[in-house]
Amino acid sequence: MTPVSTPAPAAPRVNPLQRIWLREIGMERLWLRPAPAASRPAAEPQVPVSKPVFPVSAPAAEAPAVEVAARPAAPATPAAEPVPGRPGIPASILNRKGPPPPPPPKVVAEAEAPAPIPVAEAIRNSTLDEMREQVVSCEACGLCKGRRNAVFGHGGQPTRWLVVGEAPGEQEDRQGQPFVGRSGQLLDAMLSAVSMSRERDVFITNVIKCRPPGNRNPKPEEIAACSPYLMRQIALLKPERILVLGRFAAQTLLGTDATIGSLRGRIHQLKTDEGVQIPVVVSYHPAYLLRSPGEKARAWQDLKLAARMG
Ligand code: URA
Repeated sequence: MTPVSTPAPAAPRVNPLQRIWLREIGMERLWLRPAPAASRPAAEPQVPVSKPVFPVSAPAAEAPAVEVAARPAAPATPAAEPVPGRPGIPASILNRKGPPPPPPPKVVAEAEAPAPIPVAEAIRNSTLDEMREQVVSCEACGLCKGRRNAVFGHGGQPTRWLVVGEAPGEQEDRQGQPFVGRSGQLLDAMLSAVSMSRERDVFITNVIKCRPPGNRNPKPEEIAACSPYLMRQIALLKPERILVLGRFAAQTLLGTDATIGSLRGRIHQLKTDEGVQIPVVVSYHPAYLLRSPGEKARAWQDLKLAARMG
């Protein structure tokens, strides 16, 4: 009988010192929790490094790679008073009086504590409805701690236009729906000006599915953790075209750091992993248009460009 293949016994009682010891030697979870039924990948989620979120076929010269930083490693346990030859075990713990720590359980390396499944792998075969559930319970980055609701997206199918914004704001976080605040009202008006409706023709979503605290800019590791959802939404919805709103979403989706002024007014092509080319039109974010109404004329040109392509 080995600890790997048999059901784990009830968790042994350990005192706090023993618990610290178990944690130091990396055995706390193994010792105190039943072994997992099936082994999961031991590695942290792998995220692409130095790679555009999406490959963009054209114009290549204007689409340099966005550096997407890998998720930082989990902070190490503070290494107080390390003991020579016993890395990671503080002398203050080794020298303390008390019951001797329990011998480390004999386990094989594959029985390490389960690591979270990377988002891209977890959703590889998900339907839209399944992925909605996965987004609602997602804990792939720290934004899950501050959200009221994750915002998956909303809209009609078949999808003529996929509209991609940045991230939920306060109202979206409250209601769990995209673009329902003042920006959303303006977006609805813009869409209806080209005879598009969010219920019928358009699916609206964001690059980031949970609200960043105080509406701050999303961090690279949050983008890397969340972008597989958008990629899978695009693959499943197969929109005729994508309207990207604002600098952040445009740069993320097109894998560029070009200015929005240089990205708008022309048609980009997004090549999906399945090899499908989807035309992309970039425009200003409605929140920016509310602050700078003089730019609405340019946004109108962008909408007409997107509508003309059909
Ligand atoms: N701004 C966005 O980018 N997305 C929303 O859903 C709301 C406001």
